[in-house]
Amino acid sequence: MREQMLAAEKVKALEWRDNALYLLDQRLLPQEECWQRYTTASAVAQAIAEMHVRGAPAIGVAAAFAIVLAAQQHSAYQVADLAVALQPDFELLAASRPTAVNLFWALDKMRACLAAVSQHTNPLLALEAQALAIYNEDRAANLQTAEFGLQVIRESSAGKQHVMTHCNAGALATAGFGTALGVIRAAYIDGLLECVHVNETRPWLQGARLTAWELLGEGIPSVLSVDSCAAHLMHQGKISWVIVGADRITANGDVANKIGTYQLAVLARYHAVRFMVVAPSSTIDMQLASGIDIPIEERDATEVLALSGQRLAAQIPAYNPVFDVTPAELIDVIVTERGIVRQPNQHKMLELMQGPS
Ligand code: MRU
Repeated sequence: MREQMLAAEKVKALEWRDNALYLLDQRLLPQEECWQRYTTASAVAQAIAEMHVRGAPAIGVAAAFAIVLAAQQHSAYQVADLAVALQPDFELLAASRPTAVNLFWALDKMRACLAAVSQHTNPLLALEAQALAIYNEDRAANLQTAEFGLQVIRESSAGKQHVMTHCNAGALATAGFGTALGVIRAAYIDGLLECVHVNETRPWLQGARLTAWELLGEGIPSVLSVDSCAAHLMHQGKISWVIVGADRITANGDVANKIGTYQLAVLARYHAVRFMVVAPSSTIDMQLASGIDIPIEERDATEVLALSGQRLAAQIPAYNPVFDVTPAELIDVIVTERGIVRQPNQHKMLELMQGPS
């Protein structure tokens, strides 16, 4: 299965090469595949804020490499001075997007790496090794979550599955194979997938533009619907699983993900459709007791009011929160590389995080 999954890995969101970060500009997909080269942390922070790169794990990885870029610009500094010199870059990156905890997790790892560097070690090499480790760990986590998710599907029922997914939790959102889309890919390889129902995911259209593009590239049977079709599809018995990613999972198992995820979970429970969340453990924030504490990003109203730069709405203000929180009680299973948590709650999340990694 691992070899088949690696062979299916065709899309990349980012690359570290020749001391520079390369990002595939996701604003232009699927019309254009345009890679940009980044050499400063401030340019990467802007790319994260403007969503050239997006998806919780991918922005964490991009931020880690941005710190390496910042350190490259201060290569003559001693370790102690470097920590001070990099502080504005850490702050700039931390301010780029508020909801996905992977960003803060990755920055903390880079900060800890810097703090641990001895006077006899090259800090630049240590930071680069740490960023590469974050990248490679995410790739490995994707493969493990895909296998665990497939195991859950296999155990749940016989026969081919009709899966609904929301937003993009695929290769474009990670360093590797994807989280929710990784499980979907594994189910396809295993012959367990009938069809993926892709929600278009207003207003940024991650589903219509990105998930659809990834699925199409691999010939995985899929169909696109407007977000408001979900209840109708479930009522018709056309969905057996909803599988989504996450931007932050709190200590009690509440899940922040793309706006619209919460209403899918409510609908899924009403229609007895199973609901799976797939994420690396870097998405779990044990510092927050519950979802109510998660900062929810609000983006510019024009994302709602206009399409491709063309104003469609009447002259009315728009409210544009881009994430929502699904309470743990509506989630059947959270799949991480550390293990599978069924009917998540505080006790089970703690057990997961305190267990072997
Ligand atoms: O605003 P985005 O596109 O960054 O939101 C992305 C999502 O909500 C994804 O579902 C989530 O980050 C999981 S990605 C593996």
